[in-house]
Amino acid sequence: MTVRSTCSPRRCTSGSTSHPNGSGLSRTHIRNQIEGTLDRLDTDYLDLYYIHRWDEDTPIEETLSALDGLVAEGKVNYLGASTMAAWQLTKALWKSDVNDYERFEVTQPLFHAGYYEDVEDYLSVAADQDLAVCPYSPLAGGFLTGKYTRADPDDPKSVRAPDGSRGSFDERFERFYLSERGWKVLDTVRAVADEVDATPAQVALRWLMDQEAFTCVPIVGARTVDQLEEDLGAADVSITAEQHDRITDARYDEDGRRWGH
Ligand SMILES: NC(=O)c1ccc[n+]([C@@H]2O[C@H](COP(=O)([O-])OP(=O)(O)OC[C@H]3O[C@@H](n4cnc5c(N)ncnc54)[C@H](OP(=O)(O)O)[C@@H]3O)[C@@H](O)[C@H]2O)c1
Repeated sequence: MTVRSTCSPRRCTSGSTSHPNGSGLSRTHIRNQIEGTLDRLDTDYLDLYYIHRWDEDTPIEETLSALDGLVAEGKVNYLGASTMAAWQLTKALWKSDVNDYERFEVTQPLFHAGYYEDVEDYLSVAADQDLAVCPYSPLAGGFLTGKYTRADPDDPKSVRAPDGSRGSFDERFERFYLSERGWKVLDTVRAVADEVDATPAQVALRWLMDQEAFTCVPIVGARTVDQLEEDLGAADVSITAEQHDRITDARYDEDGRRWGH
């Protein structure tokens, strides 16, 4: 990422990430980043501006005050928060409210049909505070498209991955997405896809879009145009409440225990 260099005796803001102002959510870094972003995109304003994660070294009031200034100046229309703990999101919203700063309207957690309890608290904050949720990795990195097959019924980590797929080269894929729970959810996603004449990717995305508690707009990570066209087809797919619940419930065994991750 290019950062404009504007050094002064008091505040050196070069692009070096090793410098205190070279990364994070300080006022100085946000100021420099927004200018660089607007320049690179050749635009006067952004519809939505996310902060990414939590900066332990910067008081959240400083970050929120800087973001509030960007909205006041018309450089940003709405604010978003990408991946942080539920308590951090709650604290940020509260600080915005008591200081009369613009508040976050959109959040970006990891969230997909096989990954719910892990973000339940966070999603509860979004629902209560009327925030939109834009999940990243909504297809579990491609796992929920159904292109992976289980190689060993006794080992959830064993997989046949298509050549060139993320699972064939990314070591994190196994750690993040291969689990007994994941396979059970995928089996149900596949079954529902057969029932509604859609693909597993479309059903997995529809499951997210049909969340009742909050507006949910998945950020699809398609790598090819064909993948993108298939994924966009989710907009035309319908699943019933029973099918939605069946996918949700696939995370648990018959005794109500959650399958292991
Ligand atoms: N806030 C954060 O911390 C954070 C973290 C990660 C990502 N993100 C954002 O979220 C976006 C989405 O994340 P993601 O890429 O992990 O999302 P994803 O949609 O779960 O996974 C995308 C992968 O799924 C496969 N895929 C997608 N559609 C397919 C289809 N129709 N058929 C077959 N395979 C299909 C492709 O894998 P193959 O390459 O195997 O074909 C693609 O690369 C990223 O681009 C990034 O901007 C944010």
